[in-house]
Amino acid sequence: MKIAIFGASGATGQLLTERCLGAGYSVTALLRRPDNFAQRDRIRVVQGSAFDAAAVRETVEGSNVVLSVLGARSLKKEDVLEQAVPLIVAAMKQTGVRRIIALGSAGALPDSLKKQPTWRRWIVENIVYKTMLKWPVASQISQYATLSSSGLDWTMVMPPMLTNTPGRGVYRIDGEALPRNGSKISREDVADFMMSQIDSREWVGKGVYISY
Ligand SMILES: NC(=O)c1ccc[n+]([C@@H]2O[C@H](COP(=O)([O-])OP(=O)(O)OC[C@H]3O[C@@H](n4cnc5c(N)ncnc54)[C@H](OP(=O)(O)O)[C@@H]3O)[C@@H](O)[C@H]2O)c1
Repeated sequence: MKIAIFGASGATGQLLTERCLGAGYSVTALLRRPDNFAQRDRIRVVQGSAFDAAAVRETVEGSNVVLSVLGARSLKKEDVLEQAVPLIVAAMKQTGVRRIIALGSAGALPDSLKKQPTWRRWIVENIVYKTMLKWPVASQISQYATLSSSGLDWTMVMPPMLTNTPGRGVYRIDGEALPRNGSKISREDVADFMMSQIDSREWVGKGVYISY
């Protein structure tokens, strides 16, 4: 299995890379700064930015599955997903790669909070999403729109807050909305779930919520 990873140097990306290597997969990663990446000698590195169409295409070409755990390094307006995801989709179409599993967030869809208690839904919608997470949420809305109209075999994994705690191996999955009172999940469990989707068709063409 040949996997192309975008965002491999990030917090979730490092976990995902380690799992792919552990599974015996060949990994190609697009990295802005390969020298800082501990796993660089065990993978094929394409050096460059996800805003560079040629570098994105070189990363995708020849892979069976694309994993994206890209994101901005700050809460400011960086438009990482707005710029990169359309380039990834275009590169996949040009090179005939069909499957992409992308990390998104529960903020991507208006219905995501419909299973939450009213008070929690109000606070998240009216305060959290409109202030602190304004730009990350805008990016995730954009990512969802790009993937869902791509015609590719896409899955967008949509967690609430990510933590760096050890994975529990037990979590809730929901295709409709964030599970009731689901407020966090560890990056390790998210990485494990994304790995499980490489060989699964269950969530193709769908967004899927994941939380404790
Ligand atoms: N934090 C949360 O609680 C939370 C909750 C739900 C969803 N999410 C979403 O989950 C995703 C991943 O989060 P994370 O915390 O694992 O990520 P992260 O640690 O912030 O890492 C982001 C990754 O994206 C890469 N990247 C950004 N711009 C790039 C560019 N122009 N070219 C190439 N690579 C680029 C970074 O590369 P460099 O190493 O070169 O910077 C890094 O590998 C994000 O989309 C985030 O919005 C986060």
